[in-house]
Amino acid sequence: MTNRAVDAPALRVPGRLTAPGPGWTTRSDVVVIGSGIAGLTAALRLRGQVDKILVVTKDVLAAGSTQWAQGGIAAALGPGDTPDEHEIDTLVAGAGACDLEAVRVLVNEGPEAVRELIALGTKFDHSSDGELSLTREGGHHRDRIAHAGGDATGAEIQRALIAAIEQAPEIEVIQHALAVDLLLDEAGAVAGLTLHVMGEGQRDGVGAVHCRAVVLASGGLGQVFSQTTNPAVSTGDGMAVALRAGATLRDLEFVQFHPTVMYLGPDSRGQQPLISEAVRGEGAFLVDFEGNRFMRGVHELADLAPRDVVAKAITRRMNETGHPHMWLDARHLGLPASVPYGDRAASEASVSRFWERRFPTILATTRSHGVDPVTDLIPVAPACHYASGGVRTDLWGRSDVPGLYATGEVACSGVHGANRLASNSLLEGLVFSRRIASVLPGELRPWSEPVAVDRRTAGLVSGSVRRELQEVMTSRAGVLRSAVGLSDAGLLLDKLAGVPAALVDQESWETTNLVTISAALADAAALREETRGSHWREDFPERDDAHWAGHFDVVMTDGVATMAFVSSQASDGMA
Ligand code: SIN
Repeated sequence: MTNRAVDAPALRVPGRLTAPGPGWTTRSDVVVIGSGIAGLTAALRLRGQVDKILVVTKDVLAAGSTQWAQGGIAAALGPGDTPDEHEIDTLVAGAGACDLEAVRVLVNEGPEAVRELIALGTKFDHSSDGELSLTREGGHHRDRIAHAGGDATGAEIQRALIAAIEQAPEIEVIQHALAVDLLLDEAGAVAGLTLHVMGEGQRDGVGAVHCRAVVLASGGLGQVFSQTTNPAVSTGDGMAVALRAGATLRDLEFVQFHPTVMYLGPDSRGQQPLISEAVRGEGAFLVDFEGNRFMRGVHELADLAPRDVVAKAITRRMNETGHPHMWLDARHLGLPASVPYGDRAASEASVSRFWERRFPTILATTRSHGVDPVTDLIPVAPACHYASGGVRTDLWGRSDVPGLYATGEVACSGVHGANRLASNSLLEGLVFSRRIASVLPGELRPWSEPVAVDRRTAGLVSGSVRRELQEVMTSRAGVLRSAVGLSDAGLLLDKLAGVPAALVDQESWETTNLVTISAALADAAALREETRGSHWREDFPERDDAHWAGHFDVVMTDGVATMAFVSSQASDGMA
């Protein structure tokens, strides 16, 4: 691997968030930031191995992205399936940017990790013969996705994990707690963090937690864009906190846009309803306004091509036809082979029964927006869904900062490369949190004193710029990117970063985090002059392994963030 510095503008973002001095303090050996599958798995597995564990979460325990996951969790659990086949599908989707060793860890440890989740009490769906029911999603060549409650997989996993946490009095939980910044000791290792807590009795306002290790499991950055499937809490806080503490962020430009997000109109902003890829896995297909099935001929898997391929095809068709969305036809799902496809009147009841059993959540959501998928086409367009990049970690979840571990969407373990394979995200959180819990206790550092905070690089961006930031990122660093748009984005973000906050509050902290991550993301996207995975450049439409097989890393030193390119061998067996 070679490292080459690149000519990127220094990011104008604070090296620390302005915050009042801590009004309260507490101690815990390990602090887990985040309460989705990654965070709660880490906490549960650390139990009994370290004295005190504290889980902090920005909202309530169930408010993160895990709760919203529909499709399921991928693992080679079905008859005839193997980790090797899962590996191949993962590498192909990742478009030459995966870390092969990390992928091998994921696919080989995945089945056991899912079985453990079942033993914990997660109730996955089973077929009538009692076998685990497995479905297919984009990029998978086998039925490999375990699901629960039809399309409520994340909610069921979250329920089971919270139930287990409630039975573990030795794990303390603080809700409504935003991690502001890490506290480091003289050696640059984790010594604690500052937290802002809203309304938790004596622990109200900004406080300091002294600790010996932090596990970051705080999720992604979806709120960087105007339309996303992510909940409101996904403001990139964990990545920004890690960057300011000296950790490396990797692959930020690889943001996945889910192809089939329900289109609610031009003014709809924030979290949008996801129409799971599993709906296509069960036979739904995309059509344009003339009824043409435009995925045919685009890829051998047609409507079940990897996510980036489908998102690009939809966007192309939207651009060619001038329509703001395409359509998903799922009016035939569950029809017995004996019912002729055209005989809708006779088949509606059977389609309706299928929807109610298999996709109850999506059915309720689309109907609440006036679209009945049993009889209507569903309007869909791509929207931001998942950050494949994040805090760079090794195979054991370690970041570059001693005592700081990262897992789940906040991390870049190397398993997703340039485009995450469907339903690999819950699995990644599960597998790598188990790994962290297996090494962290043996690596716990002695208690150390945080060094005094250098406030010279502190600052805050006004919360009032958030909406404009999201518009800038969506229009210029979204699904389709170009040099002109990205350079524009850089200038506009620089301007927004210079709007100082009048108030020191959660809105300003989150917005500063969003600006920080957006600036790094847009810079990396501008530098990557090729199309790879979910990074689609209209001015560089081909993948270019000769120049861009590798990663953009961003680090911050003394409040100045810089970017480097680390080249590597392409590892999807394609190059
Ligand atoms: C989906 O259900 O389509 C989303 C699954 C995923 O993001 O992996």
